Amino acid sequence: ARALTVLGIESSCDDTAAAVVRSHDVLSSVVYGQTALHADFGGVVPEVAARAHAEKLDHCVEEALGRAGLGFADLDAIAVTAGPGLIGGVLSGVMCAKGLAAATGLPLIGVNHLAGHALTPRLTDRVAYPYLMLLVSGGHCQFLIVAGPDTYHRLGGTIDDAPGEAFDKTARILGLSQPGGPAVETAGTGGDPRAFDLPRPLLNQPGCDMSFSGLKTAMLRARDGLVAAKGGLTRQDQADLSASFQAAIADVLVEKTRRALALYLAMTPAEPCFAIAGGVAANQVIRARLMQLCAGSSAAFVAPPLALCTDNAAMIAYAGAELLGAGFCDDLGLSARPRWPL
Ligand code: KG4
Ligand code: ZN
Repeated sequence: ARALTVLGIESSCDDTAAAVVRSHDVLSSVVYGQTALHADFGGVVPEVAARAHAEKLDHCVEEALGRAGLGFADLDAIAVTAGPGLIGGVLSGVMCAKGLAAATGLPLIGVNHLAGHALTPRLTDRVAYPYLMLLVSGGHCQFLIVAGPDTYHRLGGTIDDAPGEAFDKTARILGLSQPGGPAVETAGTGGDPRAFDLPRPLLNQPGCDMSFSGLKTAMLRARDGLVAAKGGLTRQDQADLSASFQAAIADVLVEKTRRALALYLAMTPAEPCFAIAGGVAANQVIRARLMQLCAGSSAAFVAPPLALCTDNAAMIAYAGAELLGAGFCDDLGLSARPRWPL
């Protein structure tokens, strides 16, 4: 098939992003984070996010095309995240993409944000279908067998919070900055992962389901215990709590991945592969533990580079290209979906 060149647009949470992808080459990937805008609110404020997306999108698209050295005439399609996510942001992106498609006559493809993450290992490493994916981010946590750009089998997932959410809450509990994942990871280097005995919920339950909401309560209790005993947290306390928290998350992910792998390998895939994606997949402790697990199995381990693990538009452009290649296409009636399971 001819190499498709696709413009991707992403605005479903707190990153405004545009990218141009040709086949497996990321020609440009522009991401404007909104962390500073939401810093005073202790979380992403949907209305603030939507406004910022609407203001930044045009510029973002222009910059992505400029950096790729291309114009609209060089494109084969425009792909946009059509959900799931904060509806104001998703709408901003969809409206922008529709305007561009209407003005240029280019095909428009609505992409599921989760499919963008799930297909990233194909963009970066040309992984063959079917592969096992752990999609682990701020809003999601699930095991998927990915069998095609529109074919996903869910083996299990979190029954409450996503790990990224737990990282963000833990950062708040420990007085660290947002986003919490990188802050907790940095604070945890040099910490003792066995210093605090935190729960590993559902670890011994059968199946691939997970739970992370109890972990933040345990973190809160551990912190309050330290504060009551000595009036505050030292650097070392922060390090030990962060390391212990990461160890608890990693233990759960590793054990559940072990089970998901067994189910997947029973399908006897020709080129067995386990891949991770989503913001939490940027965590080095978690990556190392999962890599170690795969080293003892017949499955290859693939973890995309950090910039393609967290939200970006290259993954949306790539997913759009795969969907277009498989015959999927939308029209100007494309709607934005706040909820959209894979
Ligand atoms: O995929 P993503 O950018 O957005 C969603 O679709 O949710 O993921 C963002 C989440 C945040 O909760 C952030 O704290 C977490 O990913 N994250 C990390 C790391 N980098 C980002 N969590 C753990 N370790 C990291 N290094
Ligand atoms: Zn995401």
